[in-house]
Amino acid sequence: MKRSFSNSKRRPQTSSEPLIADVTISEVGARGDGIASVEGVKVFVPLTVPGDRVRVRIKDGANEKSADKGEALRADLLEILEPGPGRGTAPCGHFGTCGGCTLQHMGDGSYAAWKVGLVRGALARVGLGDLPMEPLSRTPAAARRRARFAALKRGKRVWFGFNERLSHRLVDLEDCPVLVPRLTALVEPLRALLLQVLPEGGACDVIATDLEGGIDLVLVGPRSLDRTARERLVAFNEAEIARISWQPDDRGAPEPIAHRRPVAVRFAGVPVTPPPGAFLQASAEGEAALVSAVLEHVGEAKRVADLFAGIGTFSIPLAQRSAVHAVEGDAPAQAALNKATGSLRLTTERRDLFENPLTAKELARFDAVVFDPPRAGAAAQAQALAASKVPLVVAVSCNPATFARDARTLVDGGYTLKRVYPVDQFLWSAHVEVVGVFTR
Ligand SMILES: C[S@@+](CC[C@H](N)C(=O)[O-])C[C@H]1O[C@@H](n2cnc3c(N)ncnc32)[C@H](O)[C@@H]1O
Repeated sequence: MKRSFSNSKRRPQTSSEPLIADVTISEVGARGDGIASVEGVKVFVPLTVPGDRVRVRIKDGANEKSADKGEALRADLLEILEPGPGRGTAPCGHFGTCGGCTLQHMGDGSYAAWKVGLVRGALARVGLGDLPMEPLSRTPAAARRRARFAALKRGKRVWFGFNERLSHRLVDLEDCPVLVPRLTALVEPLRALLLQVLPEGGACDVIATDLEGGIDLVLVGPRSLDRTARERLVAFNEAEIARISWQPDDRGAPEPIAHRRPVAVRFAGVPVTPPPGAFLQASAEGEAALVSAVLEHVGEAKRVADLFAGIGTFSIPLAQRSAVHAVEGDAPAQAALNKATGSLRLTTERRDLFENPLTAKELARFDAVVFDPPRAGAAAQAQALAASKVPLVVAVSCNPATFARDARTLVDGGYTLKRVYPVDQFLWSAHVEVVGVFTR
């Protein structure tokens, strides 16, 4: 028989039996799990909201560090004894197993407040928590235009979808309320295609991006493609597919397999041809919110540097009114932006900004700097900016923790963090984007 104890009772010292506890969730942590306390130890319980009274099974050996670096435990939710006030109804049948969305069980108000709290919490941890926050920009359902699926062939079947949470097991996707309908409609045809392309036991990822002209597909991971597999890819008869590439692993460059139609994405009306699998903001709505915050503050600055510029999400709109220097580390992305510059006052440079950030001296010619690094943030570039005299810096980030770290560097260098914009473009996930405006 399973032993049961509540967080008011003592915890056994040793036990090989599963540990069952009745706990009350007090908050939701940065990864989206509810947090309860059992005898002073934090217990993370997925799929819960504050105020939930729940029965959980505490996992043996599932210790982890909590955000405050204390020891913490993980638990599985067994039963909701009394729901908390912030519960909602999950719209997706895969919710609970699929790792793509972990927060559909939250009512909309608590969900939005929690997302804003992620940004506020990260800033508070570096002593910048007392700033008023702009309202959360929201992205609706069915708006995600870029997704990375996983696929695995077993016997006469291909499993295709997203990984389960904290697992390599695949959720075999039927529907997805987050994706644009053109991507959801591709799930079944892709499953059928991969049944013919993958060897038995073979696996790959598929990056699908909805672009003007059609869908861009990159198969990542089949280590080799024989002639038959290539022919099947070329013959893949889905009207929506514009381009197919193959990349043996995450580091290599994608090799074109089929190119049926030109593809493009437009920034401020200017078409850019993204290289296969190029970075693109996850939704048009999220992109619009980020660009609008950037433009509002950069305003009429004469000379602007756009760092980690990608294929020009910010550079091109900025170049409608300023002279812009766009710096990007990825050669194909820089080349794509370079090709699109036309009559714009836009120069580009390929440069590794982790190893070789723009120095304070180089930065001296700009009236404003925009930077939008990957999740690791821009530690070295923030240091150089802190030592510069650039009057305005706008930081865009998909990671509140590194954003806060870099914000602290800028503030220590004499900048004031004036405005903070949280942007939710990864609906029902624990991710949130942020734009920060710094002046000196
Ligand atoms: C979050 S994306 C932003 C791209 C662009 N600003 C946009 O919104 O579409 C980060 C960009 O940084 C680039 N990047 C990553 N590491 C880099 C590095 N060490 N130096 C320069 N660019 C880098 C990536 O190639 C990517 O284009």
